[in-house]
This record gives sequence, structure tokens and C-alpha cells, in this order.
Amino acid sequence: MTHPTHRRTVLTAAAGTAAALVTGCSKYGDDSGGAGDADDNPPAPSGASAPTGQQDPKPAPLAATSDIPVGGGKVFKEQRVVVTQPEAGSFKAFASTCTHQGCDVASVSDGTINCPCHGSRFRVADASVAGGPATQPLPPRAITVESGSIRLA
Ligand code: FES
Repeated sequence: MTHPTHRRTVLTAAAGTAAALVTGCSKYGDDSGGAGDADDNPPAPSGASAPTGQQDPKPAPLAATSDIPVGGGKVFKEQRVVVTQPEAGSFKAFASTCTHQGCDVASVSDGTINCPCHGSRFRVADASVAGGPATQPLPPRAITVESGSIRLA
């Protein structure tokens, strides 16, 4: 006669082992045809990480707070973001892709973020539309402001 408790214990142990194997396959991104993990990320090139010491989880600063004029802002083309300072010490960031037809906004002047393609203007305070043809605001981007540096979050 088989003891029911013993059989349940064995099945539980087997399930735990299978979970551990799946976890092991996905943890290291092994391309050996394992658990069907659709990992599109290529392996990091060797030497790409810092050779010693602790890694800093913070991204590089986008700008110093002093780079952003009060009542205005600055476009960061490479990062595709515009940072504004509507009031002294208050910083905002928005995606720099115009919501009209996708051009990159190019300048900030007279309290608006300006798109060169068809003339849409967005208010520096909240990126709401100050002048069309765009009808939607620029989407917000998360930033952190710390010790005089502005970083994308
Ligand atoms: S794409 Fe910006 S105004 Fe048309």
C-alpha cells in the first residue's frame, strides 16, 4: 500500500526542481535552445562594464540646472527630450517629438516649445498646445533633479 503523503511530497519536490531548472535557463540568457525563452537581447560585449568598483545606477546627467533658463527651456536632440523651468527651481521634461506629425521640436522661446515643421507651439509649464496644428500636448518624461544635475529617470 502506497502512503499518500509520501507521494505528494515527491511530486512537490519534482515541481520545485523543474522551476529551478527553468529559472536557471532564463537567468543566464543561454542560447542553447532551452526553455523557449524569447530573449532578443544580445549578450553584452566583453569589457563593456566597469572593470572594478560599484556600478552607478544613475544615468549620466542631462544638464546642470543652471543650463535651463527660468521661463524657458532647452531641447536635447540626442536624448529626444526638452527640459523646461517654468518657475525658478521647478523643472519639467517632455518628449521632443511633436504630436502633430512627428517632427522634433527645435527651440524654446517666449514661453513655448516650438516645432519648426508646421509651427505648433507648446507651453513650457505643461507642454499643452499654445498654437496648432498640433492638438495634443507633448508627453511628459520623468526626470530627477539632484545636486544641481538633471537626469532622465
Ligand atoms: S510636426 Fe510639428 S507642427 Fe507639424
